Amino acid sequence: SLPVPSIHEIVRNDSYSIPDRYIQEHKDRPQVSESLPASLEIPVIDFSLLIKGDEDERRKFDLACKEWGFFQITNHGIAIEVLHKMKTAVAAFFELPLKEKKKYAMAANDLQGFGQAYVVSEEQKLDWNDMIFLNTLPPEKRNFKFWPVTSPGFKEAVDQYAKEVQKVAAEIYANLSVLMGLDRDGLIKLQGELKQGIRMNYYPACLRPELVLGISPHSDSSALTLLLQDDEITALQIKHKQSWVNVKPVPNSLVVNIGDATEILSNGMYKSIEHRAITTEKKERISIAAFVFPDEEQEIGPLESMVDELHRPRMYRKMKYVDYVRQVFTRKMEGKAHIDIVKLENK
Ligand code: SIN
Ligand code: FE2
Repeated sequence: SLPVPSIHEIVRNDSYSIPDRYIQEHKDRPQVSESLPASLEIPVIDFSLLIKGDEDERRKFDLACKEWGFFQITNHGIAIEVLHKMKTAVAAFFELPLKEKKKYAMAANDLQGFGQAYVVSEEQKLDWNDMIFLNTLPPEKRNFKFWPVTSPGFKEAVDQYAKEVQKVAAEIYANLSVLMGLDRDGLIKLQGELKQGIRMNYYPACLRPELVLGISPHSDSSALTLLLQDDEITALQIKHKQSWVNVKPVPNSLVVNIGDATEILSNGMYKSIEHRAITTEKKERISIAAFVFPDEEQEIGPLESMVDELHRPRMYRKMKYVDYVRQVFTRKMEGKAHIDIVKLENK
């Protein structure tokens, strides 16, 4: 990825001008939140009921995975204090002077650190966010060179949050396995231990939110993503049946979405949905995305049980997960275009 300026720093110095590199082409400019229809809302699932095996909640979960690819979970079992500590630690990092943050700068050939992925040309439009990405689980995968461990409490907060969120992810994975006709540990057995990385986003307020994008439309290359977002600001939007739908925050919940790896494994039954984030003129926003993904050495392809040559022909070819991710990260984010890397021409 090419180095990019810190938008936080640009706004700190001058919050009035919007540099050209951030002004989206007309066709890509967002409809700001308030002008979208408010009637459609993504499913909200009571996680405590789901894990108890409640039939209604199971049905809701199935529908949420098949029809939406995105849902919010309440009563996930992670203490509010853990969520709060995580948000505070991330906010404190982004408040540091740029000189400090640059100590954790992403290298051109790395995905970890403070910077931007997906930037492949000087002409490309930039997103209105600063981010830091860290490998979090398993703990052996951590590279503390990129961890702002000088921020008090950062390491502890991330460590605790990462582990708690992974338990929730494992439970969702177990439920997904059952939906795919496998045993509860079916997907894990096929993919090996689930890994995790966390992307922390800082979106400064923007006086012209209709001109910029907080994060461009994309699908996640993960197996699952669990997002901890601001409790008040509506900024995340998902593409649902051809239109953008707001994800209105439910305080202390997590937003869960199906990633490319699950779409591929399920042979397209569960879709990795395109989403984006807009900005608001009122306030900065922080979001924290935990990406749960298969072992890098694992080959990812449709499960035999999800392929039926007559009715559900194989949609994707197999690829080693690490190769998939490498290809994704050296491109510009462009909606769902990534998954075309493995899409088969249908006969
Ligand atoms: C993301 O897609 O990584 C972030 C979305 C958000 O900030 O809500
Ligand atoms: Fe995303």
